[in-house]
Amino acid sequence: TIERTFSIIKPDAVAKNIIGEIYHRFECAGLHIIAAKMLHLSQEQAAGFYAEHKGKPFYDNLLKFMTSGPIVVQVLEGQDAIRRHRELLGSTDPEKAQAGTIRADHAISVTQNAVHGSDSAESAAREIEFFFTEDEICPRTR
Ligand code: CMP
Repeated sequence: TIERTFSIIKPDAVAKNIIGEIYHRFECAGLHIIAAKMLHLSQEQAAGFYAEHKGKPFYDNLLKFMTSGPIVVQVLEGQDAIRRHRELLGSTDPEKAQAGTIRADHAISVTQNAVHGSDSAESAAREIEFFFTEDEICPRTR
């Protein structure tokens, strides 16, 4: 099935100047970018997005990192987009990420791990809605 998923290029990857490198991987895998923007998250936005992790030991560091610099957020569309996107990212912990994945190649640590991808259809819907209004999403016309 054709799905939509939500994706973030995190502050470490933006700082490393690899936005295009990461977009290239999405495109090569048949994932189409149908919405995109760069932004610098406020503390409130980051807390809202990561609400489910509140109270976890890594939560404070996560918020500090995610607000430390600009990010690029995108909606990707394609066949099995949710699973395919996560396969490209690799495991959350770069030490465990499969060779050739974005995190194996570029992540600095489990927190500074270059990218985020929705883990289910439910999170994808919630996360897309968190960052994009309906009119900011541009479905393919050809
Ligand atoms: P992400 O997919 O954006 O969702 C939660 C983030 O918390 C995760 O990626 C990691 O960057 C970060 N994080 C830091 N430490 C951990 C940890 N021990 N387990 C899971 N996520 C962690």
